[in-house]
Amino acid sequence: MSVTIVVGAQWGDEGKGKIVDFLTESADIVARYQGGHNAGHTVVINNEKYVLHLIPSGILHKDTVCVIGNGVVVEPAALLEEMTGLQKRGIRVSENLLLGKSAHLIMPYHLALDKASEKSKGKKCIGTTGRGIGPTYVDKMARTGIRVGDLLDPDIFREKVETNLKHINFLMKNLYHAPAFSAKKICQEYEEYGRRLKRHIADTDLIVNRAIAEGKNVLLEGAQGTLLDIDHGTYPYVTSSNSIAGGACTGLGIGPTKITGVIGVVKAYTTRVGSGPFPTEISDATGEQLRSRGGEFGATTGRPRRCGWLDVVILRHAAMINGLSGMAITKLDILDGLDTIKICTGYRYKGKLFETFPKEMEIIENCKPVYEEIRGWDTSTLGIKEFRKLPVQARAYIKRIEDLTGIKAHIISTGQKRDELIKIRTPF
Ligand code: GDP
Ligand code: IMO
Ligand code: MG
Repeated sequence: MSVTIVVGAQWGDEGKGKIVDFLTESADIVARYQGGHNAGHTVVINNEKYVLHLIPSGILHKDTVCVIGNGVVVEPAALLEEMTGLQKRGIRVSENLLLGKSAHLIMPYHLALDKASEKSKGKKCIGTTGRGIGPTYVDKMARTGIRVGDLLDPDIFREKVETNLKHINFLMKNLYHAPAFSAKKICQEYEEYGRRLKRHIADTDLIVNRAIAEGKNVLLEGAQGTLLDIDHGTYPYVTSSNSIAGGACTGLGIGPTKITGVIGVVKAYTTRVGSGPFPTEISDATGEQLRSRGGEFGATTGRPRRCGWLDVVILRHAAMINGLSGMAITKLDILDGLDTIKICTGYRYKGKLFETFPKEMEIIENCKPVYEEIRGWDTSTLGIKEFRKLPVQARAYIKRIEDLTGIKAHIISTGQKRDELIKIRTPF
């Protein structure tokens, strides 16, 4: 029995999708606990590429139950489109996909509010994915949100939409000078979504807890990453949910005593998409090389990802905040052929050395990273499946990351494809 959380240790896009798909081999249930279709989790099987946005990355294993938990925000049209897309490719999406009744719905006005808010911020915009994520979580916290379970009762649903639109349409007209929303149109549209999603809507808290009680293997899939967490990330340049491991408990209704392990997914370098500070960002040709070799373009928005060296200050923060029990280090192959590789071990700001992640945005924005350099390797690591077959310098790099973070690498990923990885230890 195992209840394992897979969490991003950096700014998202660490390769969580690939690691979750691999671990699903031995899992009975895979559950998403937060975020929405701002996520883009890529899984490559043979030469087929799948990008999952809302559906857990376990869906490609036909016998695994996939759960979208209460902590996720759901855009029903996006979910239905994703389901149909997978079904067209021969992937089973039926009783094996469950949608929590208490998950909040992304409404058309949330998308409008997200875009309007970004526009009004101008240069200081967050660079959101424009999917309505922030405004939906705002309504959840304001207790004016509409939940998946409400889709099952059109009268309650209509009443909530009408109440909300009084306020929303006032903002649309007077603040954003944008067209008003029609309650009738929204209700018609969502009634249809409700009809199509009904068979998937369930008490997911009960289902997940029963599975745990029966000793099943449960995998909890985080979206985004530690530094995009609303509380522990680079606020305000973050997403609007708790993407850290703790979010798995609230986002699914699982008690912390049930969690047996937390795997932090660590890209062998660092990337970030959207605005906000990034101490180890590389703006020269090496950054460009990482971006093109690593295919660092957003899986959701297609935006180029900013690239930089591995930052151990961040990883130590991720290890502490998530209580990491192991790491899955991904994209090692992208570093093949570099003469030297830099690892950031601290930040220097106004003469002072910081080895723990500072809370002050001023420091994170203006610090100078302190680097140690290691020699690179000139042979290919692509597709290597055994640790001992890695070039000696690649092994030294992994070992150095382990030493600097105090966390062991349980998996090392050496390529995009499902089987391109080194398995050192699995949670099951
Ligand atoms: P996620 O959001 O954390 O699931 O990550 P994304 O899917 O957004 O981005 C990770 C990208 O790296 C995807 O294109 C993956 O197919 C790819 N990827 C994952 N692991 C590896 C690896 O070890 N090597 C290479 N070359 N690509 C990888
Ligand atoms: P996965 O799960 C990388 C970033 C956006 C923006 C900020 C807020 O694929 O790792 P939002 O739309 O959430 O309000 O945007 O968060 N962001 C991500 N960056 N990977 C993601 O997901 C992200 N989801 C959101 O670019 O900077
Ligand atoms: Mg992604």
